[in-house]
Amino acid sequence: MVKIAPSILSANFAKLGEEIKDVETGGADWIHIDVMDGHFVPNITMGPLVVEAVRPVTKLPLDVHLMIENPDQYLEAFAKAGADYISVHAEACRHLHRTIQHIRSLGVKPGVVINPATPVEWIAPILQDVDLVLLMTVNPGFGGQAFIESVVPKIAQVRSLAEEQGLKLEIEVDGGINPETAKKCKHAGATVLVAGSNVYKSKSRKKAIQALKFGQ
Ligand code: DX5
Ligand code: ZN
Repeated sequence: MVKIAPSILSANFAKLGEEIKDVETGGADWIHIDVMDGHFVPNITMGPLVVEAVRPVTKLPLDVHLMIENPDQYLEAFAKAGADYISVHAEACRHLHRTIQHIRSLGVKPGVVINPATPVEWIAPILQDVDLVLLMTVNPGFGGQAFIESVVPKIAQVRSLAEEQGLKLEIEVDGGINPETAKKCKHAGATVLVAGSNVYKSKSRKKAIQALKFGQ
């Protein structure tokens, strides 16, 4: 069964605790936290302080997506704040293997992310070292953008590489996920769907989560 990771980027920040409990009772599997620095992406969001504040509110794994330059500098702070997964962009890491090892040494599950225009070949050598591959299905920076169809074959590509190498990887997609695009991603082999606006802008978060999870 595919996992649903609502992105709190589209939540109401004035009542973030309630917003997280609402998706937890609605059947969410992970909580996705979008960290943006205004350099790697043209937007600024939240940092370790928010991860720390959210940690006691939910039992669900915290899936921290770093869209920042120089992620190494902040890994320890996010680990201490309670992240379960920390994912870094291959495009932002000069020494990706070192960064991934650093995340693991902090007792956190490492993930690698690539933008829509970055080929899967770029991360093939690191697949055996990560627990999660996150394929961006929009250009990172904002919620509510349109799904980029050309990423779908990349999902299947990661899946077959993982199978060839006998790896148990989570394959996550992020951006423009709605019931229609969710189906395409699931069929291609995605195991985790991030959804921001589709879940948080719905009247019933539970119905939205179920539609993503169970839609065939
Ligand atoms: C985009 C973020 C996404 C974003 C997705 O940079 O990484 O996690 O919140 O939002 P939707 O689901 O609205 O496209
Ligand atoms: Zn994200």
